[in-house]
Amino acid sequence: PSEQALRYLRAHIRDVPDFPTPGILFKDITPLLAEPRAFHMTLDLLAYPFIGQHIDAVVAIESRGFLFGGALAARLNASLVPVRKRGKLPGDVDRIAYALEYGEAELEMHKDSIQPGAQVLVVDDVLATGGTASAAAELARRQGGVIGGFAFAVELGALGGRARLSSSDDLKIHTIL
Ligand code: PRP
Ligand code: MG
Repeated sequence: PSEQALRYLRAHIRDVPDFPTPGILFKDITPLLAEPRAFHMTLDLLAYPFIGQHIDAVVAIESRGFLFGGALAARLNASLVPVRKRGKLPGDVDRIAYALEYGEAELEMHKDSIQPGAQVLVVDDVLATGGTASAAAELARRQGGVIGGFAFAVELGALGGRARLSSSDDLKIHTIL
């Protein structure tokens, strides 16, 4: 993408200091969601590296990852597999605990969501420490999925998420902003 396009998209991310807790600089994507041209461009940019690569399943992470994951699954003709916070999925689940930038949490995925050997793309809005995305990837791997890549609208480069995700694999980690 051109520098002009990136500047346009960046202008639709709002920095909110000290949210949700003091010391955290929150990246608010709601202005980007509110502007159809910016949202459409973001989805196109997120999808394009994976168009020629076969992706069987998009693993989208609750909550904000759902906003991008559903649209990406449709663009890539892949199944959409939601990874949810504890207690939200009605069926039998696999569960993983993980540390967050602020606090800690557990994620769940329905058992048998992913076929053994399936190529999986993990999608979320923001890559920060990488704890959330690596937990979601681990859930997919436990079911025999092969991580084909990660896609995030925003990367907070200083937090080391990219190194954390790629420490185990030589993976395509695609971020826009
Ligand atoms: C935020 C964000 C990512 C994650 C990134 O989610 O949406 O999922 O943190 O942080 P990490 O790379 O350090 O793990 P959050 O848990 O705040 O919840 P939400 O998506 O439900 O708002
Ligand atoms: Mg999230």
